[in-house]
Amino acid sequence: MAARKRPSATNSTATDTCEPTTPVSVPPKTDDPPIAPPKSGLILKLFFILSLPYFYLIFYHYQLESELRRSILINAGLSLAGFFVTQKMIPVASTYVLRRNLFGFDINKKGTPQGTVKVPESLGIVVGIVFMVLAILFQYFNFTADSNWLVEYNAALASICFMLLLGFVDDVLDVPWRVKLLLPSFAALPLLMAYAGHTTIIIPKPLVPYVGFKILDLGWIYKLYMGLLAVFCTNSINIHAGLNGLEVGQTVVIASAILIHNIMQIGASVDPEYKQAHAFSIYLVQPLLATSLALFSYNWYPSSVFVGDTYTYFAGMAMAVIGILGHFSETLLIFFAPQVINFLLSVPQLFGFVKCPRHRLPRFDPQTGLLTGTNDGTLVNFFLRIFGKMSENRLCTALLVFQAIACALCFVLRYFLTGWYK
Ligand code: UD1
Ligand code: MG
Repeated sequence: MAARKRPSATNSTATDTCEPTTPVSVPPKTDDPPIAPPKSGLILKLFFILSLPYFYLIFYHYQLESELRRSILINAGLSLAGFFVTQKMIPVASTYVLRRNLFGFDINKKGTPQGTVKVPESLGIVVGIVFMVLAILFQYFNFTADSNWLVEYNAALASICFMLLLGFVDDVLDVPWRVKLLLPSFAALPLLMAYAGHTTIIIPKPLVPYVGFKILDLGWIYKLYMGLLAVFCTNSINIHAGLNGLEVGQTVVIASAILIHNIMQIGASVDPEYKQAHAFSIYLVQPLLATSLALFSYNWYPSSVFVGDTYTYFAGMAMAVIGILGHFSETLLIFFAPQVINFLLSVPQLFGFVKCPRHRLPRFDPQTGLLTGTNDGTLVNFFLRIFGKMSENRLCTALLVFQAIACALCFVLRYFLTGWYK
């Protein structure tokens, strides 16, 4: 039986390392109270903030072909249904995971009564399953049997599903850190093997006079790059974590930016293949966004469920796949700017130059309810050191605003560089 790994609110000490703690067997209990209801008001506000500009672009700003608009709207309808199913299923799944002792303690509440509550873990599994069902069903509405896209679409789904499985395996078995870093490279294999698209890159215009050509075929190196991108996206979401709502929040912000980027690219292009690549991204990112919002309604401060590595790996892989097949991996990396910064800050601890504790979280003061930054190299701690002590939800909001600013800057950058850069 899967004994839960981290009743660690009380036993996480400075001597812990990135290696997992020894599993602790807790006898199964069935009398845990039901989780708190979803924060629906927050989600409703987010829904309007996100959907108004989006639907404005689809219906008024750009002249999309009716066929394409129809597919996007069918997909949006399915995604909406997915949102409600996910929101309904999370409390059900929570009782099941608690029964199997799959829970965690909220470390940033340690020393308060909330810090002793068993918070159900790995609820990303519900998001992942609903996402997979939506993405599989959607093929019926969009693709014909001989569509070339079917092969890559299904390979993308296989990679996402494989990652979901490995993330869940990690949550249950607590895989050692160095192995954990490699899991996404296995999960990316289905996509890498099936990928038959181009392996060329366009040389930035300012560099063309120096290199002497405009297009470079990277061959297998391009596939290696795709694999590394998948490894980066998954792990970078997973290590920019540990605050209520941060894992899902960053995904929601990035996925929204991807969605708007795709619509802008479709609207501005006349090349059918280019449009199809971006449409393909939309068909995957809409369900990701909808199901993630449902999880967000439970995971926002104070979290009534944790998302688990199941979710962080799943969401990272989904976005990597969406960026690869939509052919906008450079833009994706700019959307991931906070994750890149967090990764760079983490390098000394990740690669063993500096001691890496099991949790690199801030210090919580139960008297004031505020977090103080520690010396662990994370963006979370960096923010606290720069802006001073903060409550958990304020810090998370600040980090999500920073994520949104990074995405907005990416749009500005693209606007100014288009035509000059490529
Ligand atoms: C990664 C980070 C680790 C961070 C952890 C938090 C690295 C190398 N690893 O490890 O520093 O502490 O994520 O997710 O950067 N938790 C909370 N509040 C939350 C979310 C999670 O207290 O809002 C705690 C809970 O005890 C939960 C646990 O973190 O059970 C989940 O940790 P896990 O995802 O297993 O950590 P890692 O991904 O290994
Ligand atoms: Mg994690």
